[in-house]
Amino acid sequence: MTSPVAMPRPIDPADPGEDPGPSVAALDTIVSLAKRRGFIFPSSEIYGGINAVWDYGPLGVELKNNVKRAWWRAMIQERDDVEGLDAGILMAPQVWVTSGHVASFSDPMVECATCKRRYRLDELPGGESLTQTELRDPEIVTRLGLTCPNDGGPLSAPRRFNLMFQTYMGPVQDDASVVYLRPETAQGSYVNFRNVQQAMRRKLPFGIAQIGKSFRNEISPGNFVFRMREFEQMEMQYFVRPDAAADVFEQWLPRRWDWYVAYGADPARLRLREHASDELAHYARKAIDIEYRFPFGWKELEGIHDRGDFDLRSHQEASGQNLEYFDPVTNEHFVPHIVETAAGADRAPFTFLIDAYREEEVKGEKRVSLALHPQLAPYKVAVLPLLKKRPEIVELCHRIKADLKRDMMAVYDDTAAIGKLYRRQDEIGTPWCVTVDVESLEDGAVTVRDRDTMTQERIPVEGVKRAIMDRLEASRP
Ligand code: GAP
Repeated sequence: MTSPVAMPRPIDPADPGEDPGPSVAALDTIVSLAKRRGFIFPSSEIYGGINAVWDYGPLGVELKNNVKRAWWRAMIQERDDVEGLDAGILMAPQVWVTSGHVASFSDPMVECATCKRRYRLDELPGGESLTQTELRDPEIVTRLGLTCPNDGGPLSAPRRFNLMFQTYMGPVQDDASVVYLRPETAQGSYVNFRNVQQAMRRKLPFGIAQIGKSFRNEISPGNFVFRMREFEQMEMQYFVRPDAAADVFEQWLPRRWDWYVAYGADPARLRLREHASDELAHYARKAIDIEYRFPFGWKELEGIHDRGDFDLRSHQEASGQNLEYFDPVTNEHFVPHIVETAAGADRAPFTFLIDAYREEEVKGEKRVSLALHPQLAPYKVAVLPLLKKRPEIVELCHRIKADLKRDMMAVYDDTAAIGKLYRRQDEIGTPWCVTVDVESLEDGAVTVRDRDTMTQERIPVEGVKRAIMDRLEASRP
């Protein structure tokens, strides 16, 4: 997988360069299309919704599954050095003490004395560019004269708010039964390091990757699925010799950048941003974010982290279990270092959705299309009758669709005239439409229309599936 453009170096925070602007100006354009066409719905909507939780509809779940599959393919299936894992969401509570999450997985929160609204200090107007040191300063609100954006009321000094959700395990609800919903999948890979290494007879370097739900009680969630309280991550932990970590970090960075570009993210709207030393998470030695220019600004899409030996060393000390690796080549015992690639299984589809959105005028009419990568598109093909009143045409459509469905997501639609049917499929990103017309009954051929070029090609009915499969195969990065 190679990027069509050279990968840039991280931006200089003092001179971040020209802003390319978002590919879609208004977030609402995407939110309303997502709702209208069955990609993403507000959770529990009939009860007024629940803040920061979203449900994936019939097309959204296909898109998201395809993104997860593309990640799994690139990170596990096509590599010889990464194993998959699916660890539990609930873990021994000590895991989160050892990892540092109980003590320091928190954001700076301020509260308005009059309306009682709570905000993340670094997301308040005037607080966005504060350094981590400034965000910890108890005088910062007074010094900058920050007030409540809702009613102008006075704001409290910042206090740290822990983001982990708690629940109870078993029938007794007391302090001894507290467990946490995991705020990241990474810890499941660390506590299984020895299991995976021994079961799979792995030598360093190797990785453990997993996809799964994580939960964070975010103070100010929002921007649609960008920041949710229940979300999904796609994280990979790569275990290396201490002296290899810096090089391995540099290797994973372009791989992850290329993955976004290969699946449709516009490289002009991606950038790298390195964390300042006071911004680094407690575990990180170095961190570079891949950021995307969302309609609401440059924001993190994925983080690449050099975590040093913090994780395995901490778990070794707290558990009393030996998590060292014996290197048979050098005869050394050491605690492996970890390079992590931490992506979001909601932010990635969201980014691909935004970047795929197109509006143009065709024959005096507005055409909306989603130029999604064919591998990510919810439906690969739609089978459409030109005349639904002709039973032979409808019957042939169903036969073609039934054959296609054995290998891919295919759909039949006859609820409008052909022009409208094409527009509907364009709007949900279906790369190809197969149309059966009166002539098909005579010459045994159908029309295959391409979503992006709108060109049409006549091919024999028996060649339809092969043609679509070949196109899909050819599109694979
Ligand atoms: N294990 C390291 C870790 O969790 P992170 O930067 O906090 O790092 C990794 O999270 C990725 O998870 C982010 O880049 C983002 O894509 C996704 N993510 C984090 N918090 C999220 C939230 N509240 N809603 C949606 N996605 C989130």
